[in-house]
Amino acid sequence: MSALIELRSSRHAPTPIEATDAAHLAAARKRLSAAQRSWLDENGFDAKPGGVCLVPDANGKLARVLVGVDRQDSLSSLAALPMTLPVGEYTLAPESVALNVELVALGWALGAYQFTRYRKAKRDAAVLAVAAKTLATLTPLVEATYRVRDLVNTPTEDMGPKHLADEVKQLGKAHKAKVREWVGDELLDDNFPTIHAVGRASHRAPRLIELTWGKTTAPKVTLVGKGVCFDTGGLDLKPSDGMRWMKKDMGGAAHAIALAGLVMEANLPVRLTLLIPAVENAVSGNAMRPGEVVITRGGHSVEIDNTDAEGRLVLCDALAYAAEQKPALIVDFATLTGAARVALGPDLPALFANDDALAHAALACSNDVADPIWRLPLWRPYRKLLDSYLADFTNTGASRHAGAITAALFMERFIPDGMPWLHLDTYAWNDGDRPGRPRGGEAMGLRAMFALLSKRYG
Ligand code: BES
Ligand code: ZN
Ligand code: ZN
Repeated sequence: MSALIELRSSRHAPTPIEATDAAHLAAARKRLSAAQRSWLDENGFDAKPGGVCLVPDANGKLARVLVGVDRQDSLSSLAALPMTLPVGEYTLAPESVALNVELVALGWALGAYQFTRYRKAKRDAAVLAVAAKTLATLTPLVEATYRVRDLVNTPTEDMGPKHLADEVKQLGKAHKAKVREWVGDELLDDNFPTIHAVGRASHRAPRLIELTWGKTTAPKVTLVGKGVCFDTGGLDLKPSDGMRWMKKDMGGAAHAIALAGLVMEANLPVRLTLLIPAVENAVSGNAMRPGEVVITRGGHSVEIDNTDAEGRLVLCDALAYAAEQKPALIVDFATLTGAARVALGPDLPALFANDDALAHAALACSNDVADPIWRLPLWRPYRKLLDSYLADFTNTGASRHAGAITAALFMERFIPDGMPWLHLDTYAWNDGDRPGRPRGGEAMGLRAMFALLSKRYG
């Protein structure tokens, strides 16, 4: 991450960027020469959010940048600039309107992201010089977000179950954590039947990846991520439009891995477990069929009503295993349902929690760090939508009503009563480019959850 540098180490005096709005435009103008004010007028700069004016000095050199901002949205206020301003060093002018300076800088760094695995960078990012403390706080958050984006953007051929395992192993090595995995039939030997059932049709073996780190005496926190490296739907095959972006169905795993990295980097006093069930939901002669019954690790029998509701299946064995260790908190991330997107749209992960105080704490942290999430209810009466005529329950019922809730209720069946659990049903994707939010893979709810863990255990 090179889009932020420490103010002190800036080679030349960085160009000041003054963030302003309509109410403060007159004051901003007073700081300019008559010629510069005229230049502002010639450019029609009116300080509306998104408006930018590069102001020259008397020699035609860049002297100052004026940017119109929405003071309620610090994060995206300057986020378009690293890819639009001329390459060089800038700093937020102290005369700017009041903004959350940390969020401004974070937005800048997030706006400088480019995915360069398969082609060269389009250009160098302009650099923002910030205080040393800001840089130290933001660097891990930016790197974690970039990690999620890189993992999600990478196509399945280069991001299969083994690649996710390699990513966890690399992370484990960097932080002296223990990494263990169950591959293929080892999943059956050690009783992870549902992960195996979903992943067995792929030529790339299904796995469960486990990382453990931290003092054994510290409070146990377990992070779980849906690692479906590609979701064809299985025999209940998705139509082309629905399948097109399903390389991103490991987005939950990407979030859990990145959050584990943040926890270890910050050296939070927790006993951390990261669990990634990593599979491809593929089609083959041995694919799991609709109508089959799987006896899950948690002991519940599950009728496979639809092979495309595979995320909750791989997660249920991971959650059951997680619960066996009696953690103080379980957090899972999953690109679980289209229904969550119908309910909340692409930008708001749905939060489910079996503990109101925990949910409120999570929402407060989300608000503090401008990483929005929205709570949906674990509405127990809807459990009947998953009734099966021959098994304990089905993985999805005939009704498509409340699809995000029924998915969460399915998973809740594998969490013992009273064990604190948060579930984030996330999109992990930007459909188009916006300031600070480039098209493609995206971290959503990651910073909110890190803020929560930092507050609870830091
Ligand atoms: N991975 C999908 C959910 C998904 C789809 C997330 C599109 C984000 C964007 C999941 O495995 C799935 O296919 N869910 C089905 C469940 C249904 C069969 C009950 C869905 O949401 O349609
Ligand atoms: Zn699916
Ligand atoms: Zn899926």
